[in-house]
Amino acid sequence: MQSSGADRDFAPYNAAQEGRDVRPLARAAVAAARPTGDAMGTRRVAIDLGCGRGIEARHLAESGYTVHAYDVDPSVAPAMAELAAERPVQHETLDLASITALPAADLILSCATLPFVPRNHFDGLWQTMLEALRPGGVLAVDFFGDRDDGAGTDGTFLTRAEVEARLAGFDVLSLDERERDGASFQGPKHWHTYQVLARCRSSRGVRRRAQSLPAAFRAR
Ligand SMILES: C[S@@+](CC[C@H](N)C(=O)[O-])C[C@H]1O[C@@H](n2cnc3c(N)ncnc32)[C@H](O)[C@@H]1O
Repeated sequence: MQSSGADRDFAPYNAAQEGRDVRPLARAAVAAARPTGDAMGTRRVAIDLGCGRGIEARHLAESGYTVHAYDVDPSVAPAMAELAAERPVQHETLDLASITALPAADLILSCATLPFVPRNHFDGLWQTMLEALRPGGVLAVDFFGDRDDGAGTDGTFLTRAEVEARLAGFDVLSLDERERDGASFQGPKHWHTYQVLARCRSSRGVRRRAQSLPAAFRAR
């Protein structure tokens, strides 16, 4: 298990994603965020945090979103530039830990990436995400749990209570916690994951609730 961000090289993983299906979480997010009435036909904004080589970003763009996609892995930049030439996708190579502002968004997606953000940056990023999400906007994210093999490395691995605390102010459409022994890109692994699909009740409400998280749930 690679123990720190500096050790992690996602280039081989991202190269191997070529040709795979769009992740079900991205499809579910688009379905949950489907505009109705007056909003039909208007291009809305989505954010993909940890976009890899852009399979979900393409899906979001083809579903009517202008997409802001971010990833620290420079190897995906050429594929993302190709995508940006075809679709309304803007890509930046950056560390999510360095983000202090995001565009206002109707949908925020992050597949299997937030756990790689160090704990001391995680709640700052979370707060920035909450501030970006418009009222009624959809959040679709993966977290890793405290019993995941990666727990103890420099990422963020959450207990169920910590996940639930972060969802105060959301209508939780699904919170799917799973634990199993299985395979990872780097070999056998014990997985402990949460997959969250949630709708923001009101951005102001979410922000206020998040700021009042108990100290134990804030950045360590
Ligand atoms: C497991 S991959 C998932 C990629 C893609 N979302 C998918 O579902 O295939 C994790 C992704 O997060 C990116 N990543 C990891 N840590 C990051 C960080 N601190 N800032 C930005 N991106 C990061 C990696 O480069 C990689 O593309």
